[in-house]
Order: sequence, then C-alpha cells, then structure tokens
Amino acid sequence: MAALSMGLLMQLGVSCHKPIPANLSSVSLIPAPVELNSSGSSLLLDEGTTVYVQNDDLKGLGTLLSEQMASLTGLEFNVELSKNAPSKGIYLAIDAEVNVAEEAYALTINEKVLVLKAANPAGIFRGIQTIDQTIVKHEGETTAWIIPTGSIVDYPQYEYRGVMLDVSRHFFGVEDVKRVIDLAANYKINVLHLHLTDDQGWRIEIKSWPKLTSVGAQTQVGGGEGGFYTQEQFKEIVAYAKERFVTVVPEIDMPGHTNAAVVAYPELNGTKKKAELYTGTKVGFSTLATRKEVTYQFVDDVIRELSAITEGPYIHIGGDESHVTKEDDYVYFINRTKAIVKKYNKTMVGWDEMAHAAIDAADVVQYWAKDKNAVMGVEKGAKVLLSPSKRMYLDMKYDSTTHIGLDWAALIEVDQAYNWDPEKLVEGIDKEDILGLESPLWTETVETMDDIEYLVFPRLIGHAELGWSLPEKRDWESYKKRLAVHGKRLKNKGVDFYQSKLIPWEIE
Ligand code: ACM
Repeated sequence: MAALSMGLLMQLGVSCHKPIPANLSSVSLIPAPVELNSSGSSLLLDEGTTVYVQNDDLKGLGTLLSEQMASLTGLEFNVELSKNAPSKGIYLAIDAEVNVAEEAYALTINEKVLVLKAANPAGIFRGIQTIDQTIVKHEGETTAWIIPTGSIVDYPQYEYRGVMLDVSRHFFGVEDVKRVIDLAANYKINVLHLHLTDDQGWRIEIKSWPKLTSVGAQTQVGGGEGGFYTQEQFKEIVAYAKERFVTVVPEIDMPGHTNAAVVAYPELNGTKKKAELYTGTKVGFSTLATRKEVTYQFVDDVIRELSAITEGPYIHIGGDESHVTKEDDYVYFINRTKAIVKKYNKTMVGWDEMAHAAIDAADVVQYWAKDKNAVMGVEKGAKVLLSPSKRMYLDMKYDSTTHIGLDWAALIEVDQAYNWDPEKLVEGIDKEDILGLESPLWTETVETMDDIEYLVFPRLIGHAELGWSLPEKRDWESYKKRLAVHGKRLKNKGVDFYQSKLIPWEIE
C-alpha cells in the first residue's frame, strides 16, 4: 500500500524530497547583510519552482530573478502573477513596512517558500542579488540546487555606491558599459559615473555644438579611433541602468581637461597655445576661457542637453587639476557653472578642488586627493563622496608586477582596497557628511573589456561591501573567505578578474 501511494505520488510528479540540512550563515554573501538568521534546513529549486510576483509592475523583476537563477543552475523557472503569497515557490511582493531605509529588503525562506519583500522595486532588486548568492549546489547522492532556510533583513549604510568609467582616455561602446552595469549591480552598486570628456576625447553628442564629436571624439590615448555616444545611445545606457536600479552620473570635466573641446571650438580656449588633438597622458595643460561669455553659452547648452537625457539627479562638472586656470578664474567659473546646473534642476558634483568655490549644501564634493578640500567642502555644507585614490582608484596596479595600470597614488592589493573604514578616513568628516563611495577606473592604460574586468574585479566587490555593510559586519578574515567563493561565480560569468594570492580562491 505504502509502495503503491509512493508510486502514485511519483507519477503525479509530487516531490518526496526530504529537505537537505543547510546553514544560511555559512553562505558567502557579499555585501554582508545587516541581520541574518539561519534555521538549518533548505528549499529545493527544481524545474517546477515558480517565481510568483504580486503585481504586474514586478513582472520584469520576476523575470530577471528567474534568468539569474537559470544562468546559475541551468534550470528553468516560470514567472506567474499571484496576489497572495503561494504555499510553494518564490514570491516577490511590495510591503510598505519594510521601510527601515531606501533599498531595504526582507527575505524569509522555509522549506516550501521563499518570500522577498521590500517597500519599493529597488529593494526587491537588491534582494534578488542576495537570493542569487544564497543558491548552493548540494553534491550528495544526487546533485541538487538548494537555498538554505532562515531570514535576512538588509539595507545599505550609504545611499550612493558607485563605480566610474573613464570613456575619454579610451572609448568603450554601449555593450561594454552594459556589462559593467550588470557586473556591478550584482554587488548592489547603484551608480555608474561616466567620465565623458577629457583632453583626449569628447564622448557625448551635443547637438548645438556638433564639432565636439565630429572633431573632438576622433581619437584617444595611443592614437586609436576614439568614438562617442549619440544621445540615443546615451539614453539606451540610462534606460538599461535604470532597469537595474543604477543611476547614471554624466561628467563633463571643466574648466581643465578640455583640450578636445577647445580643438573643436578654438574660441573656448583659455590658453594662448593653439590646441591640437591629443593622444598622450599628461594632465593639467588645458582650460576653457573662463572670462568669455561664449564659454557660458557653451556650458549652458551642454548642461541643458545633457540634463534632458539624464534621469538621475546629478551632473558632474569635473573641476579637477585645472593647473593653467588662475585661482580666481577657477572660482568664477565654478560659481557660474553651479548656477547653470541649478537652472536645469540638477545637483552639482565635482572633484575635491571644487570646494574652493562658493559651494553649499546643494552640492557634492568628490574626495580623491586632498583631505583639506574635502573638509572645506563639508564646512560649506556640501556632502562628500569618497574616492580616496590610495584605496579606491581602480586604475592603480595591484602590485609592481601588474601588467596594466598606474602607480602614482599607491599599489592597491585586494586587502588595501578593502581594509579601511570610510567613517574614519578623514578627520573632520563623519558618517553623516558622507553621501557614499565611488570607485573610479581611469583608462589611460585600459584598452579592452578584459582590461576593465582585471582592474575592477575583485576590488570593486570590496568597495561594494564598504558602502553597504555595517562596520561591525566587515572583517578582512571573513571577507577573504567569502570572496574566495565568488571566484567561481566570476569565472562562470567570464570575468577576467585578478586572482590575488591573498585570497584562497575556490575556483574549480
Ligand atoms: C582625478 O584623478 N584627477 C580626479
């Protein structure tokens, strides 16, 4: 009789699986979540597992989760609508009470159901990245894909967790940018800063000043052909990022770093030297003509066109290394540019030198070089975005043998990138002064997607944890073991990451 009903059950396709014991606490989550409890059992994933979403707005996210799980496990998962929590499967739902912070989410997993709740889709998206990391391959008598049971409540320490890509020194096309967005979003990075203009190339179409690209985009470091994004392509990047809850911050670097612009329009040139297209790597030799009105017509047109295709709140105006701009001309320029950015309802971000101008609580100072500048910015009421070059510059070599990269700020091994505390970095800058963290990748020596991946990974993953996780949840010994497990994930995604000897990689 018993055998008969078992056979019948099997015929009906009902699983008789006994839950596999598992420990949610020993899953290698990065960034480490705020609160995690393990209940010692597991949920089995198989072809019958369905991802249910509470409403139509979550369908895209349900599909994204099913695709991420499929790519990891090789299984297929249906997505269906369900107003109420199902008795079996995976459920994504909006719950206004999960409101401890923006992007917060709550995850509960028992032997039958996984429920992910958040107050908004951004929280659901962050939670999906966690679910993806909780999936474990269990190798027993047979291989099974399981999720350990328990609960997670999680939210970020900093609202801005960014990565910057310099597309001026070497140009990277839309598909490369999308890959950077995908890989970064897996670790809850939520901002992509594009350094769109510099001495070597202007990379964004500005319809009212067409020579910026027809002339200024035509080369890059080393003399390659350069390139630029049409406004349609830029909008495509912004839309792609938005679907992954990543904000794009475009940068027009001014008044220095403007050689490509002044080659295209010599009337903007603030030096006496005739400008020519530049394919070298020196900095600090160019400036806009800060006392000419045509310059402010230019800045207004550029910010107006750029603001119209940028969904996020920020416009980055550069402001670094203007070595051939007189100090009072520099301050005059930033002050006038600030008014233009404000006119287009955007928040101005600038590198730390910008603190010398009349900035205020509406602005964001990006610390890269000088403590003094960052503190001055805070004293004027601005928020600080941390990108300390000795810890976060992704173009720095890992060690003296690294085949690409620079070393003027530091050699940054994986521990040097991870093992510091943003709140304690600069005396006079406290947690409440800090908007967040950003990891810049300058591309003087970076020519291919493989080069990008090699310098970005794994250091960005450590920065992602610094931006998201509580200080008491961060610890190098724990982190390096967790990162070791992510080696396999990175490899499965074809990421050409740096296999630091400091990490006990688990790759095979
Ligand atoms: C910079 O590295 N010049 C911001």
